[in-house]
Amino acid sequence: EGTKPSFKPPHKALEFHVHATSGRARYTTVHLPHGPVATPVFMPVGTKGTLKGLSPMDVTNSDALNNQIILANTYHLALQPGTELIRDAGGLHNFMNWDRNILTDSGGFQMVSLLKLAEITEEGVTFENPFLSDNNDKEGETNSGNKKRTRQEATESGSMMLLRPEDSIYHQNNIGSDIIMALDDVVSSVADDKTRFQIATYRTLRWLDRCFAAHRRPHDQNLFPIVQGGLDVSRGGLRDVCLAGFRERDDKAPGYAIGGLAGGESKDDFWKVVDHCCRALPDTKPRYLMGGMIRCRHVRLCLSDKNCSIWVALIDGEAPGTLRLKSHACSEDYRVIMHGCKCMACAGGYTRSRLHAMLKNDNPLAVSLVTHHNLAYMMALNKRMRDAIKNDAYGDFARSFVRDQYRGKD
Ligand code: GUN
Ligand code: ZN
Repeated sequence: EGTKPSFKPPHKALEFHVHATSGRARYTTVHLPHGPVATPVFMPVGTKGTLKGLSPMDVTNSDALNNQIILANTYHLALQPGTELIRDAGGLHNFMNWDRNILTDSGGFQMVSLLKLAEITEEGVTFENPFLSDNNDKEGETNSGNKKRTRQEATESGSMMLLRPEDSIYHQNNIGSDIIMALDDVVSSVADDKTRFQIATYRTLRWLDRCFAAHRRPHDQNLFPIVQGGLDVSRGGLRDVCLAGFRERDDKAPGYAIGGLAGGESKDDFWKVVDHCCRALPDTKPRYLMGGMIRCRHVRLCLSDKNCSIWVALIDGEAPGTLRLKSHACSEDYRVIMHGCKCMACAGGYTRSRLHAMLKNDNPLAVSLVTHHNLAYMMALNKRMRDAIKNDAYGDFARSFVRDQYRGKD
């Protein structure tokens, strides 16, 4: 094709080393343009280029956090402030003064999950730009429930926009993130429409080719394909179709993601698909599970969702699981969130009672404190996972962790 001349050797922007394995878990280092990342790793969500309530220095200066990679969303950044502005500011790293790694999601998933008016065709995802729409609060997040306009009305008013695979890559090239995601055709995993899943799987492969062709920065940005295919893990089924398609394009892919799993499927289905995909993906490249890790999706949502009303802190110890700081039970609980935690909230001596009162008063400092705690928790947890793999004891670790966390639940 016509893009070959400027196409430097692939994989230059990523080096991958597996240090240890335990069962099928791997302790690795992914070397990216903005430094090494030890995995397993939790990537906190900084949707619009900021982590909720924290500055980059809060993260990099804290021993309890010190994250090497964060996640941002193309969809949000393209709407505001716009990716040309970010490009002209020297890319998102410069724009937000974050000199470590960034991964961006491609945008399709956010549109489909956030916007009821979104429609997917072979061309791309068509959606109503919430900034041009007159029926919502400009966030693109809360207008899904009460759509007042029909698609036709929105089209006539000029507020419908199209995001093609080429556009997603264009935006992500502007953003300059270290890992960029292919635009995929995402169907809710619990949808009951075989034909739709089939279309989506093959379309994801066609769109992947368009993404690779549109990618202008393979030398310093890594484009990851995303495995789709619903919950069909039968031999030759849709997940296999997608994985086989990726094998044909493997020379172009520095790593892979597993998608299509944030839609409320059962725990069993979730793990079946993850297991199936991991067995088929090459052992020599990193894997990114989108939308969940040890079923900690609640956590990610809580860190990323502006409208989160129940503030939840993660804890181990005497009562592991999640702690609802706004619940009455915390109002006179004079312990810190988690004993021994080195986060700003726990090390700073903020009791559950105090945080309860602050959250009830919408105190913005409380938002920072709880975010800090949850990030510190996830960082420490991933360190424990890596250590368990190093000691070839991951199976025991995972079993006892899950037993503790979900005792009496699920
Ligand atoms: N985030 C969670 N799941 C997915 C997915 O399947 N695709 C994309 N692009 N983002 C996701
Ligand atoms: Zn803490």
